[in-house]
Amino acid sequence: MANYDGKIITIERFILDHQPDDADGDFTGLMYDIALAAKIISQKINRAGLEDILGRASSTNVHGEDQQKMDVFADDLIFRLCDHTGRLCAMASEEQDEFIPIPDEYAKGEYVLVYDPLDGSSNIDVNVSVGMVFAIFRTVDYEKRGRLEDCLQPGKDIVASGYVLFGSSTMLVYSWGDGVHGFTLDPDLGEFLLSHERMRFPDKPAYYSFNGAYQHEWEQSMRDYVEWLHSDQSPALSGRYIGSFIADFHRNLLKGGIYLYPGEISRPDGKLRLLYEAGPLAYLAENAGGYASNGYQSILDLVPTSLHECTPVIVGNRNLVEMAEKFIQGK
Ligand code: AHG
Ligand code: MN
Ligand code: MN
Repeated sequence: MANYDGKIITIERFILDHQPDDADGDFTGLMYDIALAAKIISQKINRAGLEDILGRASSTNVHGEDQQKMDVFADDLIFRLCDHTGRLCAMASEEQDEFIPIPDEYAKGEYVLVYDPLDGSSNIDVNVSVGMVFAIFRTVDYEKRGRLEDCLQPGKDIVASGYVLFGSSTMLVYSWGDGVHGFTLDPDLGEFLLSHERMRFPDKPAYYSFNGAYQHEWEQSMRDYVEWLHSDQSPALSGRYIGSFIADFHRNLLKGGIYLYPGEISRPDGKLRLLYEAGPLAYLAENAGGYASNGYQSILDLVPTSLHECTPVIVGNRNLVEMAEKFIQGK
């Protein structure tokens, strides 16, 4: 058991003490539901090497990717924890083709939950960090039951977003627009405890992160930018790429840096999904003093026209992202 010196602040206490002024019990309850999902998924992932859970399920998701067994487990769990609480009017998941209405037998609430139940799931088989990422919006029409329009909202309308990193320890990081706060799961207590209050990108960045295997597919301007990153003009950065967006983002948030997943010739919008990955992390980045861009504008300003659309992503320390924009826009 860990030694506890000083003040112990559980996520429950922190949410109650710091929730937005206009938050009702529903917002707080929804955050607890997400924290509970995180604990259950964490436990399952920790046992993944021991149970017959490794490897692929027999289905394919809307992106044509093999769904890993844990993707299916996490997707179903989040839905089942949140469908009946009366807090949500709709959900959307990276793993589901259509938006997810609240079943008719349950009351509808005012919030919308969009999520990637397991990010970087191909890393589970090799015991490397994965994540879960979510955003919460308000319904666009209180009178109606949830509709697709409730889910297709830009990042600037996010009420709160966050992620859970299943790393060497499990951390839940979230923001509702007043700082980005991190909680570490104490596995003995089964509680998320405040460990990182008001996280900010350090002024001096340490890392750049991208999948270098795709550089031949990038626009020349992006390759020029990477050349600049390697030059004396740029801050001296070291390269790190895990291939789990949440883990790459988290490291860069703590140490400073830039993450790129640009468009490619055969995939001009890149791989990352606007609604489930880029938007929620862009919101966190801006609340931590950073910035996220598609090369031309803030990701928070992009309005999704479909649930699964992708966007190029450049995210991290603001000055590094703005420099990438300059290269891309030929300025
Ligand atoms: P997901 O597991 O939800 O499909 O997302 C995987 C994403 C993201 O986590 C990661 O940054 C990226 O895929 C890695 O892609 P590459 O293997 O193409 O670099
Ligand atoms: Mn993902
Ligand atoms: Mn996923």
